[in-house]
Amino acid sequence: MEKIVILTGAGISAESGLGTFRDEGGLWAQHRIEDVATPEGFARNPALVHGFYNARRVQAAKAQPNAAHQALARLQQGWPGEVVIVTQNVDSLHEAGGAEDVIHMHGTLAGALCAVCGHRWTSPPEMEVREPCPACQQPSARPDVVWFGEMPYFMEKIFDHLTEASLFASIGTSGQVYPAAGFVQEARAMGVRTVELNLEPSTGAPIFDEAYWGPATEVVPRWVDGLLARCHAQ
Ligand code: APR
Repeated sequence: MEKIVILTGAGISAESGLGTFRDEGGLWAQHRIEDVATPEGFARNPALVHGFYNARRVQAAKAQPNAAHQALARLQQGWPGEVVIVTQNVDSLHEAGGAEDVIHMHGTLAGALCAVCGHRWTSPPEMEVREPCPACQQPSARPDVVWFGEMPYFMEKIFDHLTEASLFASIGTSGQVYPAAGFVQEARAMGVRTVELNLEPSTGAPIFDEAYWGPATEVVPRWVDGLLARCHAQ
């Protein structure tokens, strides 16, 4: 049965109250990427970077999954084929909404990483500057989030899933940051059907075979219900 691969971005968590990056007044209007989302920024001013991620971690912990997160979990449970969710988001709202095996290609706010030995552990709600690594005791703890200039996680696994997909859906992302923004071209090149669900046309909109515009909590449940109705009709 058809395998569905879904890529999500900040737009799917917007109605849960978590800020997006490039919308009006978004996170990149409030903070300079080079100061809070690069290894150089962290080396220059770790307190500023920890402050940025601590605030987002505390906010994300209070956020609730919305109908779009829950609809994708329903699709994973009800679809006869595999449904793989790849997210650019660092919140855990897909999991809170019931999704399983979510692939976090940009890492997670819940994760901490030692910049020296590579050890990973669950981050405290607020991480201190020079927090010691539990494994090597170096004062080198950082958020386990992929910064600009760093390689996203699980890329090989993601491309393997794309090669086996019959349908690729992009939900709530502006399609401006690679490699995620390139997944739709990869999918098309392999003859995979592509669909975009977003508040408004993303940069890659013309490439998609199909599109549904509107808030994720409206368009995603409707799209999922349509898929499940079709597969139960067969
Ligand atoms: N429902 C659906 N889509 C929405 C909603 C909503 N309620 N609100 C906003 N959107 C859409 C916007 O139209 C936009 O296309 O979500 C998209 C958000 O785009 P960005 O803010 O650029 O977020 P994203 O695409 O996830 O950014 C990708 O960039 O800064 C890096 O690592 C960061 O993972 C992030 C990556």
